[in-house]
Amino acid sequence: MSKVVVFSGAGISAESGLPTFRDNGGLWHNHSVYDVATPEAWARDPQLVLDFYNARRQGLREVKPNAAHCALAELERHCEVVVVTQNVDDLHERAGSSRVIHLHGELTKARSSERESLVYDLGERDIALGDVCELGSQLRPHVVWFGEMVHNTDEVCAAIASADKLLVVGTSLSVYPAAGFIELAPPGAERVVVAPELERVPAGFEWQRGSATEFVPLLCNRWSR
Ligand code: APR
Repeated sequence: MSKVVVFSGAGISAESGLPTFRDNGGLWHNHSVYDVATPEAWARDPQLVLDFYNARRQGLREVKPNAAHCALAELERHCEVVVVTQNVDDLHERAGSSRVIHLHGELTKARSSERESLVYDLGERDIALGDVCELGSQLRPHVVWFGEMVHNTDEVCAAIASADKLLVVGTSLSVYPAAGFIELAPPGAERVVVAPELERVPAGFEWQRGSATEFVPLLCNRWSR
């Protein structure tokens, strides 16, 4: 059974109705990263940061997985599939993918602002100022802010380094170290990137120019045979 590793970004959730970051109208066009997605922003105005992530978490209620998420979950019937995602939404899990590794955290979780190992499931609840962990420290979003360490790097590197097939979908590949992990795929691995446009096609990749819902189901069909 071949091992498929998927490296996904915000674009795979775009057709579900969640905004990307850098496309026109994206999150970073409507908010300053420095106001809502850095430790300094949290220290300066925690309420503004909580409002930003509470709104994004509530947005999860109005959306559902799309055909790309579902095709990847279905692919598990034929291949070993590991989804490495930069996304903090839970659409891969809700589609049925059983091995999802989040590099940048998860909207549906909160963590202690004092001890990052204390992580709590929020489900659909907001985080309010005054919500504290068992140590009495303010809860914060379990999301990686700019300047913080990404999560699960050892597990991600091991997965990509042992891939037979690597699918990169819905990412501008503009944020490191995440974007650099795709270079760890073994020389003989099949490499496909799905995106409507790309500033540069990563070396060795077949570029399927279009949307995730158009190309990912077709690719999963090809890889299921
Ligand atoms: N199907 C496939 N790809 C799409 C679609 C679609 N329907 N719509 C947009 N895209 C592509 C865009 O062309 C773009 O290349 O998705 C990509 C989205 O890029 P970004 O907005 O930069 O999102 P992402 O690459 O996930 O950002 C990485 O940056 O701000 C941080 O932590 C944040 O995880 C995020 C990281």
